[in-house]
Formats: sequence, C-alpha cells, structure tokens
Amino acid sequence: MDTLEAIRNRRAIRAYDPNHRISDAELHTMLSAARMAPSAFNIQHCRFVVVRDPELRRELRKVAWDQAHVTDASALVVICADRDAWKDNPTRYFNGAPDDVKERMAGLIKSYYEGREWVQQDETMRSCGLAGQTLMLAATAMGYQSCPMDGFDYDAVGRLINLPENHVVAMFVVIGKGTEAALPRVGKLPDSEVILTDRFPAA
Ligand SMILES: Cc1cc2nc3c(=O)[nH]c(=O)nc-3n(C[C@H](O)[C@H](O)[C@H](O)COP(=O)(O)O)c2cc1C
Repeated sequence: MDTLEAIRNRRAIRAYDPNHRISDAELHTMLSAARMAPSAFNIQHCRFVVVRDPELRRELRKVAWDQAHVTDASALVVICADRDAWKDNPTRYFNGAPDDVKERMAGLIKSYYEGREWVQQDETMRSCGLAGQTLMLAATAMGYQSCPMDGFDYDAVGRLINLPENHVVAMFVVIGKGTEAALPRVGKLPDSEVILTDRFPAA
C-alpha cells in the first residue's frame, strides 16, 4: 500500500474482533514507525503506554464513556508526552553528532523553551498528533484498522496509568481487526473554506 492509499484508507473504526491478537512483532513495527514522526529539536516528547492488562483496559473503558473499542480492539496505546523533555539532559537528543553541535543545540532548546510554558505544552500536542497519525497509518499499511480517541476523563486516565508529574495524556489510539465498514465520509468542509493562499482575508 502506498502512502496516499494508506492515508485515504485510514478511517476511525469503532467495532473490533475482540479475539484477534496483534503479535508483539507487529505492534513493535507500528510503534517503531510512530517513533519516526518528527518532533521539534528531536526532543521526542511522546511516551507510548501500551495497555496489555485486561483489567486495566476495563477500568480505562469505564472512564472513556464506556466506548467498546477501548477493550475490544487488539491494542490500546495511550499516547502521552513529557512536558519537561526539553530540559531533561537535552544533549542526548543529538547523541552521535559532534560535541559542539550537541552543546549548541542544547543551548537553542533552552532559549526556545525556558519560561514559555505554553510552548512547552503546545509542543507536546504537536508531537503526539504527528506520532498518533503515523501510528495509525502504519497500522493501516499493515492491514489493521484504528481509531484516535480523546473521549475520556484525562485525570482518571492519568491516575490509572500512573502518569508522572509534568506529563500529559494526549490521546488513545486503538488498533485491531475492524468488524464493520467505516461510516460514509460526511461533513467534509469545502476546500475553499480550509485551504487558503498567503493569508486570511482581511476582516
Ligand atoms: C483528537 C480526536 C479525538 C477523537 N475521539 C474519539 C473518541 O473518543 N471516540 C471515537 O469513536 N472517535 C473519536 N475520534 C474519531 C473522529 O470522530 C473521526 O476521526 C472523525 O469523525 C473523522 O472520521 P475519519 O477519521 O473516519 O475520517 C477522535 C478523533 C480525533 C482526531
């Protein structure tokens, strides 16, 4: 499947075969692909919590509006991010590069993030969005269906997965063998509303 085909074929699927098992190797391939997603300064904010414990899956479903795909899909990945990744030994994000590059980049990271809490937060969401889509496209290319989700109680999810201080939960991605076709695509806005040239019209 080529990239455009995977993009077109990926749909939010909500009914799954609960007996299908994704192998560890397949899941590892998908997560490795997700880890190829870009992140600002290569900070790699994302943390992928693969929920394997069936009891924990049931608990998470309870705080996610009882959405069946939380337990029925073969895999549940809670995509989180470390808001403080920018200050966690940042030279390591350039390991393998010359020392002067490592030091220069660590300095740039500090000056970009320090004291700018909104940037620290926004960057986590940019990274998680890109990683989530990459994960779903990899799943699609491998013959699986998926659904991104944020219909859940963030605080409750954080408690259930022991979310560390200064980390945030971005979304769930469920992956599995879908048992129903995607709903027809509806409500797509016209290109003229969402694709602009140069700038927004003057108010
Ligand atoms: C951030 C985000 C949160 C979403 N949360 C849920 C959710 O909690 N449950 C669900 O079934 N679908 C959820 N969706 C899926 C959307 O409803 C779906 O992507 C949208 O209707 C477009 O359909 P498509 O992905 O098949 O094109 C979510 C999607 C995004 C991007």
